[in-house]
Amino acid sequence: MTTAALVPAAGKGERLGAGTPKALREVGGIPLLVHAVRGLAASRVIDLIVVAAPVDFVDDVRALLGELDVTCDIEVLAGGESRQESVARALIALPAGVDIVLVHDAARALTPPELIASVVAAVTAGHAAVVPGLAVADTLKQVDAAANVIATPDRASLRAVQTPQGFVRSVLQAAHAGVDPSAPIATDDAGLVEREGVTVHVIPGHEEAFKVTRPIDLILAEAVLAKRRASGNVS
Ligand code: CTP
Ligand code: MG
Repeated sequence: MTTAALVPAAGKGERLGAGTPKALREVGGIPLLVHAVRGLAASRVIDLIVVAAPVDFVDDVRALLGELDVTCDIEVLAGGESRQESVARALIALPAGVDIVLVHDAARALTPPELIASVVAAVTAGHAAVVPGLAVADTLKQVDAAANVIATPDRASLRAVQTPQGFVRSVLQAAHAGVDPSAPIATDDAGLVEREGVTVHVIPGHEEAFKVTRPIDLILAEAVLAKRRASGNVS
């Protein structure tokens, strides 16, 4: 089995605040994208990584990742206007011979390698589409345009899903082929696969696979990294 990871890293990071694109913002002195790529390599289940970089930073990202001492091949290309388009561009660049594809947000920089290996193992075990997910801590409300509550879904049946999401290559390709990349309709890849009627299987996620989205997430990421460094589990 040959396994590739597509890493959408082309976002601006608007919720984090203006400045450098989010994937190049640093935690513990290392860009988020470098943390994410190191984590994928450390899982030892990935043969090839394709990074969709911010369009004006493709050369910088290529140079940055070229310096890394990792065993998997790394390819860098320009991402798109939306996450969905960035993933579609990376998917097109995949060579023949890849049978399992993971999609992993650069922004989930500190995802433990064990979680990455668990996703691949679940696909290998026969699930065509696999996502890590956690029980939600908050009660969620569905609201209308006037901010009035319409419904309170049963929290016990809800999961907050993370990445990496893992797929049999043909399943992910069929899902992306069915939609216009410039008109995004899903915020994750499993969402596209669900539209095709394919069952998506949820495995236990990990708290440290959180997405760096808002400024407070950088504080959390620094703390997680400090804890790892103190315990000698450096990445
Ligand atoms: N992403 C991408 N191409 C885009 C938009 C997002 O590759 N056009 C990537 C981001 O780089 C990130 C992942 O998709 O790794 C998840 O997206 P998100 O957390 O929303 O990141 P941003 O879009 O950068 O953040 P924001 O929405 O706050 O601007
Ligand atoms: Mg975004």
